[in-house]
Amino acid sequence: MSLWWERNDLAYSRENELIFSGRNVRTLAERLSTPLFLYSAERILKNIERVQLALDKTGLGNRIFYALKANRFAPLLTLMKSFTACGVDVCSPAEVRHALSCGFLPSDISYTATSVSNTDLDFLTRFPDLHLNTDSLSMIRRIGERDPGRSIGIRINPAMGTGYGSNELLRYSGEKPTKFGIYASELDQALEHARQFDLRINRIHFHTGCGYLNDQLPAWERIMRTCRSMIDKITTVDAVNLGGGLGVPLTSEDTRLDLSQWAAAIMRVFGSSSYEINVEPGTYLVKDAGILVLEANTVETKAGKRFIGVNGGFNLTMEPVHYKLPCEPVPCVLPDSKEKCFADHSLTPATFAGNINEALDVLHEDLLFPEIEEGALLAFMNAGAYTSSMSSNHCMRGEFSEYLLLNTKADSH
Ligand SMILES: Cc1ncc(COP(=O)(O)O)c(C=O)c1O
Repeated sequence: MSLWWERNDLAYSRENELIFSGRNVRTLAERLSTPLFLYSAERILKNIERVQLALDKTGLGNRIFYALKANRFAPLLTLMKSFTACGVDVCSPAEVRHALSCGFLPSDISYTATSVSNTDLDFLTRFPDLHLNTDSLSMIRRIGERDPGRSIGIRINPAMGTGYGSNELLRYSGEKPTKFGIYASELDQALEHARQFDLRINRIHFHTGCGYLNDQLPAWERIMRTCRSMIDKITTVDAVNLGGGLGVPLTSEDTRLDLSQWAAAIMRVFGSSSYEINVEPGTYLVKDAGILVLEANTVETKAGKRFIGVNGGFNLTMEPVHYKLPCEPVPCVLPDSKEKCFADHSLTPATFAGNINEALDVLHEDLLFPEIEEGALLAFMNAGAYTSSMSSNHCMRGEFSEYLLLNTKADSH
């Protein structure tokens, strides 16, 4: 029997203990204490390799820019810089400085942000090689005033979006106007602003939503087609950045994104062009490469509902609460074989509550879960993206530690 999230580097051992990247999770948590984020270097590199191979199959020039906001843990960034050809996608001057400190060159950095201030622009325009994407007419004008003659990218907004399932919260563009990018109705004005300051538009960028899987690929292809019709109006474009948004399975019902289908969609839309294709995934590269280990400190039935209270909350993993994205916990140690512990008759609904004094601090509601006792260690799956990087000190509970596990078989027992 295989549980839906199990794979070569993340599974229960014969001793019924969770092994991640060759390490016994309980042993690590006991030594390092919780809340604890563990990331697998090997998994990250494999995720990158998979996307790279799919892009290469398109035959188009390409580059991956990892969306650093997903997880900015320095060892993870240094790993990527050292072992892959990835650049980084950043969205603030502080992220630029951080990327530089991890070894990335300005030419490795693609900048796409919103509500960009003059102070931000004074800083950014000091880097002629940085790929600076503009998000508004105002930003084009203010870059032109500071750095005429520069090459820029334009983020466009196709007024369409797609993301995880039917989750509207994860769409960056759609019927309702959003703050992101320049709409078709303003594109001519954008080009005029650029002409006025002799700015060369060599890149087009769009990112329309997060977490799409196979079912959303047809919608994503339609988005690309709409964008292509906007892009082809600009004769100076060399590269098209398709954004991030590639999802990973979050529940037993999800299936893995088929990257060959994904690449085939890119081919159908851009295969006839000579554009270099850029992508900037965050989730796909790091989300399933991380787990968050917490301790169950309270196991109690209240008004007929089984609550499991843990020593971390939405301040460490905000997606379940703010974006309604599942983040499933599993026990790090099973009292019996997984066949017995996860047999239908052994599972009853459990609601996982964090330690933040807010009503919405519920990490998972009514998940069918085995019996556990207070003191049990739990690993929350898919905690490699948008967790530690978005953490807050709310209720002064912001402390956690994080480690990048290098590939080793040591300590697996
Ligand atoms: C502009 C931009 N690029 C890339 C990403 C990465 O998205 P994901 O983590 O879904 O791949 C985001 C995330 O929201 C984004 O806003």
